[in-house]
Amino acid sequence: MNNNATSYAVEVEDLTVAYDMKPVLWDIDLKIPKGKLMAVVGPNGAGKTTLIKAMLGLLTPVSGAVHFTNESEDLRAFKNRIGYVPQSGSVDWDFPATVQDVVLMGCYGKLGWVKRPRKADMALAQQMLKKVGMLEYATRQISQLSGGQQQRVFLARALVQEADVYFMDEPFKGVDAQTEKAIVLLLKELKENGKTVVVVHHDLQTVADYFDWVTLINLCVVASGPVNEVFHEENLKKTYRSTGGLLRSVV
Ligand SMILES: Nc1ncnc2c1ncn2[C@@H]1O[C@H](COP(=O)(O)OP(=O)(O)OP(=O)(O)O)[C@@H](O)[C@H]1O
Ligand SMILES: [Mg+2]
Repeated sequence: MNNNATSYAVEVEDLTVAYDMKPVLWDIDLKIPKGKLMAVVGPNGAGKTTLIKAMLGLLTPVSGAVHFTNESEDLRAFKNRIGYVPQSGSVDWDFPATVQDVVLMGCYGKLGWVKRPRKADMALAQQMLKKVGMLEYATRQISQLSGGQQQRVFLARALVQEADVYFMDEPFKGVDAQTEKAIVLLLKELKENGKTVVVVHHDLQTVADYFDWVTLINLCVVASGPVNEVFHEENLKKTYRSTGGLLRSVV
């Protein structure tokens, strides 16, 4: 592992991931510096969600490794330091749980499965629901929310977890402009509090406004670094080489 261990929140080494023997991520080397707000950008099917899942240990890679700087001997305790907001539509909400239940699930890492949430956790859950503008829905069944509302609840759930590193897979998908602004403020607040936030993002127009670090990916890593250094036309062309038309109005 890197000697300069404090610099990086996550280091991905020679990572190859395949579905049904077909590689969808190829020899990925990636270092995510601590305290950055990083966008993961690339076309549909580029492997962005797969990368997030592989970093979270939800997929077994063909080869390679993922290191988290804070990795302690107690891996279970460490896993609670990672927050994950999955891509919307990838979660089956067809189970009975209220909005508040779902947010409190974010505390279970801290609580252990069998313990009841404490008053402080309830208060934190309510505070985060308020932050994402969903407090008035606290007792509503999660299945009875719109996609954008569910997305906001998931965000609140990640926030109560008080993690060190957050992975969010398209948190802006399907949310209105006002919610997008609120989420951006939340992301910036997380960064100001020293958190590392990795966000899969599709809107090339807003990358420079929202993020300070970017990874361009399409099967391989095309570039990764500060937005003002690597987010330029040449790299974008390489990333979107088969979908160049999308880029016309962006760069
Ligand atoms: N469970 C799976 N089984 C087989 N192939 C899969 C599976 N999940 C994803 N793939 C394939 O792997 C590739 C990468 O998928 P992935 O979901 O990581 O892309 P993505 O960059 O997140 O795309 P999007 O922008 O559409 O969310 C795609 O070609 C996809 O069809
Ligand atoms: Mg995806």
